Amino acid sequence: MSGGAVGAIWAQDRYGVIGADGGMLWRVPADFRHFRAATLGGAVVMGRTTWESIGGALAGRTSIVLTRRPDWAAQDAVVARDLRAGLAAAHDAVDALGEDPREGIYRALPRVWVIGGGSVYAQALDAGFVDRLVISTIDVNAAARADALGLTAEAVTRAPVLGGEWLRDPDRSDPPGSWRPVSGDAAWRVDQWRHI
Ligand SMILES: NC(=O)c1ccc[n+]([C@@H]2O[C@H](COP(=O)([O-])OP(=O)(O)OC[C@H]3O[C@@H](n4cnc5c(N)ncnc54)[C@H](OP(=O)(O)O)[C@@H]3O)[C@@H](O)[C@H]2O)c1
Repeated sequence: MSGGAVGAIWAQDRYGVIGADGGMLWRVPADFRHFRAATLGGAVVMGRTTWESIGGALAGRTSIVLTRRPDWAAQDAVVARDLRAGLAAAHDAVDALGEDPREGIYRALPRVWVIGGGSVYAQALDAGFVDRLVISTIDVNAAARADALGLTAEAVTRAPVLGGEWLRDPDRSDPPGSWRPVSGDAAWRVDQWRHI
């Protein structure tokens, strides 16, 4: 895809689970702050289910929502009917956003982001549209939590499994085996991967 770099950012449990029944299975405020720091001043592309689970536009970012429903509209979001159109709208939005407000290490990241959910991550990676992955791992077993909540295995959403075209970037990842301090529900860590 032309028009500049695209990142995908998600948080998964130790086994690749990212959510269930349209929602999240943990609360880790430090990871939310990390997500905000990475995406601030950028454009975020998401599926309609994720938009509804967030409950509205993310402050300081342009939201692009993918849906196949012809009449669907949302206040404070750009609607796109397919992923390519959504990413094109995101690049246009970033061009109009002006200076990058992000700080420190976050400034090196793309300003166009795919932020989920599972179906959109899978499509974006399969299509080769993503250059960089920023993956938080949350030190929980989310499927067990979903089970305890009475949710079926079908309700659980997973991150894509990364193929050999993804290389972990050790300079921008937490040291292997290390965890950041517990925030809310759990300890967490961040790894970055680049497309080769
Ligand atoms: N842990 C994390 O970092 C993270 C991040 C984001 C989301 N999540 C979780 O992921 C789950 C949601 O994921 P999901 O896979 O069920 O849903 P989703 O990807 O958020 O949304 C799916 C919907 O997006 C639309 N869509 C998808 N691809 C499209 C395309 N190519 N063209 C047009 N529209 C398209 C369709 O909407 P219509 O049905 O309207 O046509 C589809 O039903 C939730 O549990 C959420 O909490 C977790």
